[in-house]
Amino acid sequence: MPLNESDPSVRLKLATLDAAMPARDAIVFGDMWVVEGGYTLRCLELGCERATLIDSFETDGWLETRRANPSLNFYKGDFSDPLFMSSLRERHEVGVAFDVLLHQAPLVHTLHLMAEKVDRALCIVQPMLREQELPNTLVYLPGTTAPAEIHPLEPGDAVASMFSVREPNPAHWIWAMTPSFLTSALAGEGFDVTWSQQLDEGIPNMRWMWWACVAERSDEPIVHWSAHYKEPLLRSAT
Ligand SMILES: C[S@@+](CC[C@H](N)C(=O)[O-])C[C@H]1O[C@@H](n2cnc3c(N)ncnc32)[C@H](O)[C@@H]1O
Repeated sequence: MPLNESDPSVRLKLATLDAAMPARDAIVFGDMWVVEGGYTLRCLELGCERATLIDSFETDGWLETRRANPSLNFYKGDFSDPLFMSSLRERHEVGVAFDVLLHQAPLVHTLHLMAEKVDRALCIVQPMLREQELPNTLVYLPGTTAPAEIHPLEPGDAVASMFSVREPNPAHWIWAMTPSFLTSALAGEGFDVTWSQQLDEGIPNMRWMWWACVAERSDEPIVHWSAHYKEPLLRSAT
């Protein structure tokens, strides 16, 4: 399905890809719902020699696109599952996560699994919470006691199911995150935000906005939680 470029959020996502390209290759995390691999195909159009998509489902339209473009690759699976992700051996120069992180219950771990597959730059675009009094604010949406205040769309019947406390899965909105939170989480994975844009239109609730960034791998050393048991600092006090 062609991308609807009359939609400002689609244009923001395309501008984000432009900011990260050119690249040898790209991996796209979640690109099936509505768009049927549209951003993955766009990576090829922007000059990538190959583009890989991971999603939990596939459509007839995507199969046709893939048949017509042998440089497209697809893995059906859950990119928040460390066992599935460890079965994928390749790394890619650019990673793309459009409208997916806010749906991941294991948020920081999922970001880590994505970052591990990316050599140079991560492109992220999604609805985000505007900065709050406390920097790095991250709000867990399921079970919120203020659904009308924080609901990003028109409040109505969908409020309960969207934030259902017993349904913390990718079909629901799990996180309202501020740019400062995401910037810090990216830095913890070794990626610095080098380009960002926000879009004030498109989300009825003014507490929210669209936020986009490109974050590039830095040379700064990181002491990461995934290497916790190898970290001598914790042991030296015992
Ligand atoms: C809201 S749609 C966004 C689609 C597209 N990236 C865009 O910006 O329009 C989220 C997509 O990510 C997929 N997805 C979400 N979480 C996933 C996960 N943990 N593993 C695999 N696919 C996931 C969904 O199936 C869906 O196709």
